Amino acid sequence: MTTRPYIVGNWKMHGTRAMLAEARAIDRAAERLLKVEVALAPPFTLIHATRKEANLIGIGAQDVHAAEGGAHTGDISAAMAKDAGAGFTIVGHSERRADHKESNALVQEKATAAIAAGMNVIVCVGETEEERDSGKAEAVVGRQLTGSLPTGEGVAEKVTVAYEPVWAIGTGRTPTVDDIGAMHRHIRAKLVSIYGEEGQGIRILYGGSVKPDNAAELLAADEVGGALVGGASLTAESFLGIIVAAAEAQDEKS
Ligand code: 13P
Repeated sequence: MTTRPYIVGNWKMHGTRAMLAEARAIDRAAERLLKVEVALAPPFTLIHATRKEANLIGIGAQDVHAAEGGAHTGDISAAMAKDAGAGFTIVGHSERRADHKESNALVQEKATAAIAAGMNVIVCVGETEEERDSGKAEAVVGRQLTGSLPTGEGVAEKVTVAYEPVWAIGTGRTPTVDDIGAMHRHIRAKLVSIYGEEGQGIRILYGGSVKPDNAAELLAADEVGGALVGGASLTAESFLGIIVAAAEAQDEKS
């Protein structure tokens, strides 16, 4: 299992073809920073074009439907996203859990469908501010993991987990490094209880207001294997600041 930090940009509902220049610049720079595994999850409409622009970085989807196909107007199956060029998909992002009322069970179905279609998955979990303030963060994240993670033979190696506290997304606020470390240790223990020894190799990303100027500190927290980045992944300049910080953090470890 690779120990390279994994830095993933989630473009959310941003981007038209005008943004392909950013993807190209990110890809070119990633060629000089091979200590870091870099990926982008553009909107569905840009997956194919982004794949064509980028030689090196991973390209993924932000969501897929759980069904293989059928009467689901406006939805995209895992096989379709893969055919367009996506090698992985995010599932269970808190914005989908909130906007589309996605349950843990549905997120698990989506992850299972994506893996069956030959993709890797990034399964997102994270507590709300109220849940953190009332001391329930670890319990909530534990339930999300148990309910959302795909299970079965050979599945663990396809899975990455992203811990994104809802209150840190797009707010400029982040947990302390100690709190991130504590939650990531909790997630690691849960992964081992679900997948056995294979759970040790699963990367756990931190997401929520990761920027070039806080990336080094956040990536140094215990058990943090990379970052899932929203706003700061929208320009090559700021995303590269995070990738460089990850490469430097890797140098310090080795
Ligand atoms: P921001 O980096 O904009 O806080 O978003 C984080 C996120 O939700 C990535 O999936």
